[in-house]
Amino acid sequence: MCDELQALGVLCVVLGAIAAARFVPSDRLRVTVAVALIGLVTATVVLALVLRPAAVAESDVKGRPIQVDADGYVGSEACRACHSHEHDTWNDSYHSKMTQVAGPDTVIGDFDKVTLVADGAEYKLERDGDEFWVEQPNPLSYLGTGPERVRSRIVVTTGSHNMQAYWFDTGHTRNLGLLPFTWHVEDQRWQTRRSAFVGPSSDPHVSRIGDWNIICLKCHATHSRPRIMTEGNTQVGAFTRVAEFGISCESCHGPAEAHIAANQNPLRRYMQRLSGEPDPTIVNPARLDPMRSTQVCGSCHSDLEYDFNEKSLNEWFRDGFRFRPGDDLRKHYRVDFSGADQFWSDGLIRVAGREYNALLNSGCHDKGGMSCLTCHVMHQPSDDPRPREEWATDQLHYADVDQTCTQCHSKFAQDIPAHTHHAAGSIGSSCQNCHMPYSTYGLMKGVRTHRIASPSVQVTLATGRPNACNQCHLDQTLEWTAKTLNKWYGTAMPELSADDRQIAAGVQLLLKGDAAVRALVAWNYSWKPAQETSGTAWMAPYLAELLVDPYESVRIIGERSLRTLPGYESFHHELIGTAGERQAAKTQALTIWHQQENGSKVPTTRRSRVLVAGDGNILAQTFARLLKLRDNRLIRLFE
Ligand code: HEC
Ligand code: HEC
Ligand code: HEC
Ligand code: HEC
Ligand code: HEC
Ligand code: HEC
Ligand code: HEC
Ligand code: HEC
Repeated sequence: MCDELQALGVLCVVLGAIAAARFVPSDRLRVTVAVALIGLVTATVVLALVLRPAAVAESDVKGRPIQVDADGYVGSEACRACHSHEHDTWNDSYHSKMTQVAGPDTVIGDFDKVTLVADGAEYKLERDGDEFWVEQPNPLSYLGTGPERVRSRIVVTTGSHNMQAYWFDTGHTRNLGLLPFTWHVEDQRWQTRRSAFVGPSSDPHVSRIGDWNIICLKCHATHSRPRIMTEGNTQVGAFTRVAEFGISCESCHGPAEAHIAANQNPLRRYMQRLSGEPDPTIVNPARLDPMRSTQVCGSCHSDLEYDFNEKSLNEWFRDGFRFRPGDDLRKHYRVDFSGADQFWSDGLIRVAGREYNALLNSGCHDKGGMSCLTCHVMHQPSDDPRPREEWATDQLHYADVDQTCTQCHSKFAQDIPAHTHHAAGSIGSSCQNCHMPYSTYGLMKGVRTHRIASPSVQVTLATGRPNACNQCHLDQTLEWTAKTLNKWYGTAMPELSADDRQIAAGVQLLLKGDAAVRALVAWNYSWKPAQETSGTAWMAPYLAELLVDPYESVRIIGERSLRTLPGYESFHHELIGTAGERQAAKTQALTIWHQQENGSKVPTTRRSRVLVAGDGNILAQTFARLLKLRDNRLIRLFE
């Protein structure tokens, strides 16, 4: 490419020189001037070529995993010439940017001589030309040797949509180290990696070495081979290779070497286009049956268990994962439905990015054949009027998801309000809002669950998971919901405690829930439909309480929700600092609430449920009693 541009440049200048020479009066002089100009230009170009920094061949790159074709994988660039529309749409999707080589075009965090501090340790970030560096405590200090502090080069980035994480060269084979700070895109701010996930503050704040090479690579790159070398039980190095950084074409279409070879023949190409028949040399998820198609996405968007034995583990280290698009995923893995903190007690996944686990066991998928592609489209069609960026967020079909539901559940299409009991076209009448509520947590926000199920008070009582009705009617009690479900749908009334009859579900979940529930409901307080439906005047004292929560992420999300309330727009405190700073933040949040006389703005019909007394103050005793009931078990929601 560069060489072609240079050749074009030389040609332009030569023609330009000849043209310029025409303005010189004498013929002899004209020739001399032209020759001189051409000579000058040629010399410049030759000099530029000689001085040009030699591009380092990928195989010679040190300190990070490298991109090498293998096993029939040839990379996205090879598809561009024949599939430019698919290439463009993919390039503009977040999939393409999941893993990138760090550089001025890919790093989005602030590296302008920034010093970050966590647990007393300093990290100095700096840009040096086109390179990004961190001066930090020696991440290999656990080996017991080396200097106290080192300067490490950032070589790889992860993510670009919600957050971006950074990996540095550890100086130890191709093992990457993770910078313990993440750039939060919407807030335009650094935050500790620990606080970007739900986990206790007692977890050490350290750079984790080698995670990428053994964990993250599976879902964040194409055809990854960890190539971890071990001697006995000790890892002696990682010589990790991938076919391509990012989620590229062959992650979803399978290795394409044979497909390209077959289509070198123009006649075959023409015949294939004309026939409209499936091309047997490549996988198109849209042509697979719904289960297999969903499994293509499920190979990454899932929580799976591998039954590794020594042999298969070594094979995986060497050759990477054996699953290929079109295979039956269940032949390679077991799908998890329970286990660690990642699941609600009834087996529903509660962390984001694991939609496959949720979709399984939905009648719509198991019996109806609904696949990821029923709602999502991986290449924005040319007739979709939305700007590309809008499609790229969530990659949904242009048609509304509710229309998707009524395609199959056509009995509701005629008279939707008869089923929903909310005004037609309103937020309370949207199928998604009742059947796919934001009951999954991830990336510092609520995410729609991908298990299609109906709102149920019984389930909330059994699992602690908020139900769709109370995620919008935050200020209503479980009893109100149960009575309404009974009246509208004939659902049996569950047995309810005095608190569940009198105190709003949104209040109880926030004060009493475990850390993951608190993080989720803290976000829920900022959800526009919930704010419109439940009012916001009562919310600040609850969010203020979260500013002193034991979990960093809960504090940060609480504060972000607080900023969506009138009068708190510029409210910001250092929430991973000292306990004193947090207490001061809480006091200030409450002071604003009192000064605005928000308590008296809460409608009288709503007050007692949200613990606001007649005088506009919070019912402190009940508030404290509920807080004591908080579920304090240790929660870790890591990826
Ligand atoms: C099982 C597959 C899987 C593994 C393993 C995995 N991730 Fe992810 N990751 C995902 C998916 C899927 C998403 C997208 C979630 C969404 O958008 O809701 C994601 C999103 C992210 C994001 C946010 C990206 C953005 O643009 O906002 C970050 C950061 C991230 N992962 C970091 C990690 C790190 C670090 C590791 C390794 C320790 C890791 N992930 C391991 C599947 C995985
Ligand atoms: C995340 C998965 C994914 C990635 C990455 C991806 N595709 Fe696709 N591709 C799909 C799916 C799913 C379809 C079916 C239609 C749709 O959803 O857009 C498809 C359809 C296609 C089609 C058929 C289009 C048609 O009109 O029938 C082509 C060609 C294609 N992709 C090429 C590419 C190329 C080239 C790349 C990389 C530059 C790529 N895809 C990246 C999932 C993916
Ligand atoms: C030399 C041209 C050429 C190259 C290069 C090429 N393809 Fe194709 N591809 C075709 C033709 C021709 C078809 C069939 C007609 C069509 O769908 O356009 C096709 C079809 C497809 C389909 C749809 C198959 C189906 O059955 O619906 C996918 C997916 C696809 N290609 C993916 C890729 C990917 C991924 C790459 C790069 C790794 C790639 N192609 C490179 C020519 C090419
Ligand atoms: C190789 C692993 C992998 C495969 C296969 C894969 N994804 Fe993803 N997907 C990811 C990761 C990682 C992200 C996070 C990217 C980001 O947001 O930066 C993601 C992001 C997404 C997003 C969110 C985009 C956004 O940020 O708003 C959607 C929607 C999505 N994937 C759907 C699908 C569907 C549907 C399929 C199957 C056709 C699929 N993915 C296949 C790994 C994968
Ligand atoms: C491809 C067809 C299809 C689509 C699209 C679809 N469904 Fe379904 N759905 C079904 C089938 C089939 C069942 C199972 C019915 C049965 O068990 O008799 C079902 C079951 C259900 C159930 C009962 C769930 C349970 O397990 O108790 C609900 C609720 C539901 N769907 C709502 C929705 C909503 C809301 C949407 C849109 C977000 C949707 N469906 C999209 C086909 C579909
Ligand atoms: C019934 C429709 C439907 C189906 C089926 C479906 N999704 Fe989604 N998905 C949605 C909707 C709607 C959203 C956007 C939620 C929102 O508004 O925030 C979404 C969002 C997502 C996101 C982004 C979450 C975030 O906010 O970070 C990912 C990733 C995703 N879906 C993956 C998948 C995968 C993988 C499958 C198949 C296993 C799948 N989806 C099946 C409707 C669906
Ligand atoms: C206000 C909340 C709400 C909205 C909005 C809503 N539903 Fe429901 N839906 C429910 C409840 C509650 C049930 C369970 C009723 C029961 O137990 O019989 C249910 C049950 C269902 C069922 C399974 C039972 C049956 O009758 O087949 C389907 C299918 C369904 N809804 C589809 C939809 C579709 C499609 C939409 C959008 C047009 C929609 N729902 C909108 C609350 C809602
Ligand atoms: C996404 C938000 C949303 C969801 C989800 C939702 N509602 Fe509503 N609901 C509203 C709004 C807004 C109103 C007032 C306007 C209207 O009637 O449409 C309302 C009104 C009501 C009313 C009548 C007014 C009142 O306060 O007495 C009842 C009862 C009700 N909803 C019950 C439910 C139940 C039960 C569910 C779950 C099955 C539910 N809602 C789900 C937003 C929602």
